[in-house]
Amino acid sequence: MLNFEFHNPTHLVFGRQTIQRLKALVPKGSRILLTYGGGSIFKNGVHQQVLAALEGFHLVEFGGIEPNPRFETLMKAVELARAEQIDFLLAVGGGSVLDGTKFIAAAVPFAGKDPWEILTSTGKVVKSALPLASVLTLPATGSEANSSSVISRESTSEKLHFGSKLVYPVFSILDPETTFTLDARQTGNGVIDTFVHTCEQYVTLHSGAPLQERFAESILSTLIEDGPKALSHPSDYDSRANLMWCATQALFGLVGPGVPGDWASHGIGHELTAFYGLDHARTLAVVMPGVWRHQFNRKLEVLAQYGSRVWFLDGEDRWLASQAIDRTEAFFESMGVPTRLSAYGIDAKEAATKIRSRFEERHARQGEDGLITPVDVEKILLSRA
Ligand code: NZQ
Ligand code: ZN
Repeated sequence: MLNFEFHNPTHLVFGRQTIQRLKALVPKGSRILLTYGGGSIFKNGVHQQVLAALEGFHLVEFGGIEPNPRFETLMKAVELARAEQIDFLLAVGGGSVLDGTKFIAAAVPFAGKDPWEILTSTGKVVKSALPLASVLTLPATGSEANSSSVISRESTSEKLHFGSKLVYPVFSILDPETTFTLDARQTGNGVIDTFVHTCEQYVTLHSGAPLQERFAESILSTLIEDGPKALSHPSDYDSRANLMWCATQALFGLVGPGVPGDWASHGIGHELTAFYGLDHARTLAVVMPGVWRHQFNRKLEVLAQYGSRVWFLDGEDRWLASQAIDRTEAFFESMGVPTRLSAYGIDAKEAATKIRSRFEERHARQGEDGLITPVDVEKILLSRA
């Protein structure tokens, strides 16, 4: 196991009717900016619950944060927060609203010339941030209890990540009932994103960390059991609760410590979103099976373990590993998330060429040990036509 430090400061409040806890959790006297997306929170009553809980607070609202939140939109919120002397941010929505709010938190006090540097420096320039908290309505990204944020810039077709311990939410409210209104597409996306977060910290080079491996296996098994239930019964509380807790746990920090993470599928996937606007989880469903086949020999041992422990397969290692990849693809498809570029109308050759060039320009290499070159990325994408 590699050396690590672990500290997750986010206070999690989980369960039914927990939005009312906002009243006690938000610091007294705060000037709050409530951020949200395209309006789902009005349709499912979450907005009303938040307002009721925050009666008496000074509250300003900023809506319209898009899926794959845009720098251009978020800078308007930064101006508003400065003008209103906001000192507490409350994100209400999915990963995009949370990520966007993390950016706002870092950008409001940012003293440098160009706040996009927060992204290009992967967060190194972040020296202070406004405190933020969340009411999560879409379990997927783990953003509710991590220090990461992914922001898109429309003008340059870029999608970049930053991380800073200053943008961990102070608290997050996780009420599974808020997720009953998720449609099949977002339910499937959430399960696949959680699945891939877990795999990128599990199907890696030999970790020598059996506790983390078994933790990952439990998350994957729970997703395989509860994902289909949530699709067929959207208001089934237990399934929604299990999916919500799995999503938080996948990126909470307990699956990955001491393990060499392989974030190749995310790295390549972000470019598919940047160029083609594909939903984040859909990019992962396309890319990860391709990364696994490309890295088959290096990941053979853990893929075979995954096939045996998560899919209950029995056989020799190469067969197990290959079957495990097939089962994974079949699971993604069964959750309504296609695994081929053609299913999204994307030309594999064009995508492979564009993304190879972009990684060449950035001198970016992928995988646990940086062995996946831009040429390999091109091959992986061509294999996903
Ligand atoms: O915008 P609204 O109207 O709220 O609708 C949203 C949006 O259209 C809707 N939605 C959310 N909760 C709902 C709901 N609809 C009905 N009922 C509800 N309860 O779902 C749509 C998608 O929302 P979005 O927030 O974009 O989805 P998700 O949570 O999957 O977030 C994706 C973003 O997070 C980033 C992705 O790259 C992408 O930009 N990620 C963030 C990570 C992190 N911070 O650690 C890690 C991930 O790997 C990922 O990269
Ligand atoms: Zn993800």
